[in-house]
Amino acid sequence: MTLHIDEQNDRVVATLDRPEKRNAIDQETIDALHELCAMLETSPRTLILAGSAGVFAAGADIAQLRDRTADDARKGINATAFIRVHELPMPVIAAIDGYALGGGAELAYAADIRIATPSLRIGNPETGLGIIAAAGATWRLPEIIGEARASELLLTGRALEAEEALSWGLVSSLHATDDLLPAAHAIADRIAANDPLATQYTKRALGTPRTQHPAIEFELQAELFESPEKHRRMTAFLERKSR
Ligand code: COA
Repeated sequence: MTLHIDEQNDRVVATLDRPEKRNAIDQETIDALHELCAMLETSPRTLILAGSAGVFAAGADIAQLRDRTADDARKGINATAFIRVHELPMPVIAAIDGYALGGGAELAYAADIRIATPSLRIGNPETGLGIIAAAGATWRLPEIIGEARASELLLTGRALEAEEALSWGLVSSLHATDDLLPAAHAIADRIAANDPLATQYTKRALGTPRTQHPAIEFELQAELFESPEKHRRMTAFLERKSR
């Protein structure tokens, strides 16, 4: 099994676990990601994506990539799975220790929130292998760090170290290796304290193309304004004894 799933009430932790191949993402991992997404689409929970043995993922599996054909490229095998991860109803947190390269970086870009350790090395060396980064980097990276920086990274293939990734906003915080998962859980705890539907609708609004704003917000808010949970939470605030 290349992806370990730890299911909890309000979150799922998925750990890439193929350390002998530096967690390279192969077809088995992609199939497991689809299965995980199917579960989270039915039963929405925050997802924490992590690596193992000091590596997040050293890329798509180059041994499998080498044999793929034009037809395989057109199927967008990794892109399809990463888009599904990105579109999960609840937030996705990538906890990145060590290498996140190529497809591994693109899986991290698909998350809503990225945190890392000082040993982070993140980037897309695909052009060095004679291919393009086609599983999200060319459209997600400009959105995350801006077009100029994304162009520099993708056109040179260089990897960012932790501090630079932090200052570029590619990751939002750095933690010692032992503190990385606890930090991801602390973020999941904050999310769990909020109304799940409001969280899902916020994520949906964030992912909606610019031309559809603010109509989308009005529709989502219209539903929430009528929700019993909104009434309960606002009443609880107004009736706080400590005020
Ligand atoms: N696909 C397939 N196998 C990979 C892999 C990948 N993306 N990354 C690492 N591996 C395999 C190696 O082939 C090696 O297998 P082997 O033991 O059977 O020879 C094993 O994982 C260990 O890799 P190794 O390179 O010895 O580890 P390292 O710790 O010295 O270096 C990296 C780690 C990440 C710097 C190095 O493995 C690397 O550059 N990987 C490829 C990165 C890349 O180009 N990714 C983009 C792919 S789209």
